Amino acid sequence: MTGQGKAIAHPNIALAKYWGKLDGPGNLPSVPSLSLTLDGMATTTQVTFEPDLREDTLRLDGQSASGRPRERVTELLDALWARSSMLGSVAQRPRARVESANDFPTASGLASSASAFAALAVAANEAAGAGLQVADLSDLARRISASSARSFFGGFVELAAGQHAEQQLAARSLAPTSHWSLRLIVAVTDEGQKSVGSTEGMLRTAATSPYYAAWVEAAPSLFDAVRKAVLARDFDALVGPVEQSALAMHATSIAAAPGIIYWNQATMAAIDRVRALRARGTPACFTIDAGPHVKVLTPEAHAAEVAAALQDVPGVLRTIAARPGEGARALVAAS
Ligand code: DP6
Repeated sequence: MTGQGKAIAHPNIALAKYWGKLDGPGNLPSVPSLSLTLDGMATTTQVTFEPDLREDTLRLDGQSASGRPRERVTELLDALWARSSMLGSVAQRPRARVESANDFPTASGLASSASAFAALAVAANEAAGAGLQVADLSDLARRISASSARSFFGGFVELAAGQHAEQQLAARSLAPTSHWSLRLIVAVTDEGQKSVGSTEGMLRTAATSPYYAAWVEAAPSLFDAVRKAVLARDFDALVGPVEQSALAMHATSIAAAPGIIYWNQATMAAIDRVRALRARGTPACFTIDAGPHVKVLTPEAHAAEVAAALQDVPGVLRTIAARPGEGARALVAAS
């Protein structure tokens, strides 16, 4: 065991959304999802096992963190330790000092938990010398936060729906970063943290929304249509199912009790702008996660035009442009 490991991971944005879990343990998704891993935004995490520590510690962007974020870190480290045959025999896992930094807003609907748990799993695998393969790490992270399973792979990535009592479910690569030179422009509409986290949002939706069953029924065919369009690099065919997946996810949440509305005025204005761009012939489509930002996909040749149009929308604070990015990977740890 080297004792220390460092890793970088990027967020991924789902073009076909994961929203909902199967009943029972294991955090198994109730629908299949398909995402694009992004460069341009990153989480960097360092894990140091320290035999003298009494509990795991977490610093997020320089601030000490406790509560649920730290518990999730402990859950992932415990699971990694238990999974590795090299470490399972060591009864007591040493506690870890975890330091993580995002270069984009945390917990605001920019998918920070995806990059966070992917970076953590890779860094801990290094620090512990656990020797786990990427599919194992993706499965372990999926149990803590399902979208993070996809950030282990670059480019276009899929995660199947779970099946009851399934033991192992990892994401897998559908096509590498070089497959299709799309750009994703994020229209940031709020710099604060979102009010309802995605775990809580999807649990409440499943428990109370009359439209949840309809969403679970519709999601697989939207996933299939997105998958087909991605493999064929057919942007026109991508637009409909990408937007419908996002809108159906939000519709089911809006109908929960109490209703979950992630959007603000600028979210709606940015949607209108994307549709106006398309009406005048610019290929662009939007998706929205559990937050108010609008993420717009467009072929590389139109990225500058789309970014300028979004920047001009009232309430859009700034835009971030991202390309397809690589999967989570280890870095050389600081000594
Ligand atoms: C809207 O992966 O954050 O971003 O498994 O409960 O941690 P947990 O949920 P999480 O949900 C992400 C939801 C989404 C859509 C997506 O990424 O597919």
